[in-house]
Amino acid sequence: MVYPILLVIHNAFRWLVLSSLLATLGSSYSGWLWPRSYRPFDQTIRIVATSIVHTQLLIGFYLYFISPLIRYYWRFKPDASQSPEFRFFSIIHINLMFTAVIVVTIGSSLAKRKATAQGKFRTTAIYFTIGLVLILIAVPWPFSPLASRGWFRAF
Ligand code: HEM
Repeated sequence: MVYPILLVIHNAFRWLVLSSLLATLGSSYSGWLWPRSYRPFDQTIRIVATSIVHTQLLIGFYLYFISPLIRYYWRFKPDASQSPEFRFFSIIHINLMFTAVIVVTIGSSLAKRKATAQGKFRTTAIYFTIGLVLILIAVPWPFSPLASRGWFRAF
């Protein structure tokens, strides 16, 4: 019962992940290219995006342990690893997403420690861009050659 609910939440949560990262990138690139002070909004949006990404990571980890797809992969690995979709969710998705979350987390905490507004904007822009690119690669978009799922999932 928990599994289908979490799948719907994990699917929909991707839009929050993407929009919060894009909003943070908008604030950091604009501040980097057209220098200005680092406002409370810039800090809040960076922290909110990082928290949203962490929440998705937690949901993802939980899903990983209860997903029948992942269980099947580890139980019947030699056969299951012939299927790109099983390989994608069991190995590629978790590794790329975990790396992306680490990059975003490091970027956010390095930005916090920078002394100048320019340093904060630049650090956030660089790390969050790398994180976003990894996430975009690892999402099972309907058009993804790795594995595809719908734009939304209904209960
Ligand atoms: C942080 C950014 C992440 C995003 C944007 C994301 C996005 C998605 C999306 C859109 C799906 C398809 C859901 C569906 O079938 O409707 C999915 C599936 C899945 N994700 Fe993630 N994910 C993220 C991180 C993670 C992490 C870190 C893990 C594991 C630790 C994970 C584990 C899974 C699993 C196991 C499935 C497939 C479950 C199944 O079909 O049984 N995800 N993810």
